Amino acid sequence: MTVAVVVAAGDGTRLGAGMPKALVPLAGRTLLAWALDGVLAADVDRVVVAAPPGRVDDVERGVAGLPAVVVAGGADRQASVLAALGHVADDEVVLVHDAARPLTPPSVFDLVRAEVVRTGDGVIPALTPADTIKRLAGDAVVETVRRALLAAVQTPQGFPAGALRRALESADARHTDDAAAFAAAGHRVRVVEGSPDAFKITTRWDLRRAEQLLAPPAA
Ligand code: C5P
Repeated sequence: MTVAVVVAAGDGTRLGAGMPKALVPLAGRTLLAWALDGVLAADVDRVVVAAPPGRVDDVERGVAGLPAVVVAGGADRQASVLAALGHVADDEVVLVHDAARPLTPPSVFDLVRAEVVRTGDGVIPALTPADTIKRLAGDAVVETVRRALLAAVQTPQGFPAGALRRALESADARHTDDAAAFAAAGHRVRVVEGSPDAFKITTRWDLRRAEQLLAPPAA
């Protein structure tokens, strides 16, 4: 079975909407509702949502009728993933996804899932950065890094669930993505092609961009 974990418990301070980011409206629905559309259109059997601890009841009402359970998220993203993994069996494939990437196409979930099933490794979607990237020392440029060697990483990130749980439980550092904890535990992580539509909503500008992508074309 394949289970999607959708982490939605962040407070969204950088967005400054005065509410948890996953519950911010985008074209009349919450970011979380849009994210769940993409998840449930993919080859996923069920979903576990890590909700803002004070908003579990609201999120449960929002997922009524869907194959989804809701848990209270934790103090950081890693704690929210671990809370959600409490509803995932070790022999399942888990796809961990940010609610903050609401327009991620179902095809990305399916690509990541298929590669986890094929290899048994961790699998992450990524794009080659469009900008030229420099390594710095203070404000001095040390070198230009070859873009082909770099990857801007997105979600969903897919793993054998038991191996991810053990990696997160034994992680001695707070990692910014699940694949970093998985790799630190000695597992292999592979990359597949991500999607420009899987961009993360962090600022008001990102939210405007998502609104524009969803707007009906002008007549
Ligand atoms: O803050 P940022 O956008 O990097 O968070 C990435 C994702 O992790 C978001 O979907 C957010 O809701 C989630 N998160 C969480 N629990 C936290 C912090 C972040 O579920 N404590």
